[in-house]
Amino acid sequence: MFVQQAIAILDSGVGGLTVCKEVMRQLPREKIIYFGDTARAPYGPRSPEEVRLFTEQIVDYLIQFDPKLIVIACNTATAAALDYIKDKVNIPVIGVIHPGARAAISTTKTGKVGVIGTIGTIRSEAYTIALRELNPQIEIVSQACPELVPLVERGLYDTDEALFVVQNCLQELKEYPMDCLILGCTHYPFLKNSIQQVMGEKVTLISSADETAREISTVLHQEEGLARGNDIPVHQFFCSGDADMFRKIARQWLGEQIELTPIVWQVSSPVG
Ligand code: DGL
Repeated sequence: MFVQQAIAILDSGVGGLTVCKEVMRQLPREKIIYFGDTARAPYGPRSPEEVRLFTEQIVDYLIQFDPKLIVIACNTATAAALDYIKDKVNIPVIGVIHPGARAAISTTKTGKVGVIGTIGTIRSEAYTIALRELNPQIEIVSQACPELVPLVERGLYDTDEALFVVQNCLQELKEYPMDCLILGCTHYPFLKNSIQQVMGEKVTLISSADETAREISTVLHQEEGLARGNDIPVHQFFCSGDADMFRKIARQWLGEQIELTPIVWQVSSPVG
């Protein structure tokens, strides 16, 4: 591993930017190559086989840039393809489900945890397995919220429409006792305000982003691969769909980090 190589981050769309922002904050020297498969999002309703294929195509594309580590910043793709991709490439691959589960276990005081995610993630039971591995006594209530990702991809996260959709989605779930709710989809932190408003202040929202960035930092440290020097990294962002919408959402979400770090915007498709 060479310290100047980039960290590759992928998602079905803009959701992985929530992880990207945390990596920029915790590891400001690291160069990031990001791929959002906006043309084929959402991944949530697709079969695990299809999600695995799409993830493999993006990884094959990103590998050309010779990254030192790959982050599957998508819960749906982590559930469907993490082990497969780990076997396929010879660099470290990090998913977002174990970091999210770890963060919830260290936060909950009552041992009652909620999980929301895409249909694919909830159906895979990946969070239930990861949480029970850490604490078999944990009580879990999960729910798929397929309406949320399309809202975020359309840039409608801070709107009355978003609050209305979130209210409808979480109506039943909020009746269950829990002190933590895992945002088991990397798009959901965009809707954090609405979700918090609906769930109430007593429920702590858990996003995998923090803990995933910490895991990246630990792995790079162990492999002696942390970037050095004072050069400002030039990040590269790719998306397969509407570049204007992607750019708008990324600028809004990443905020000042974007001014600090020049970005080469390119549109590309992993399927040629
Ligand atoms: N952001 C992704 C996740 O964490 C995928 C959402 C989707 O494309 O349905 O699951």
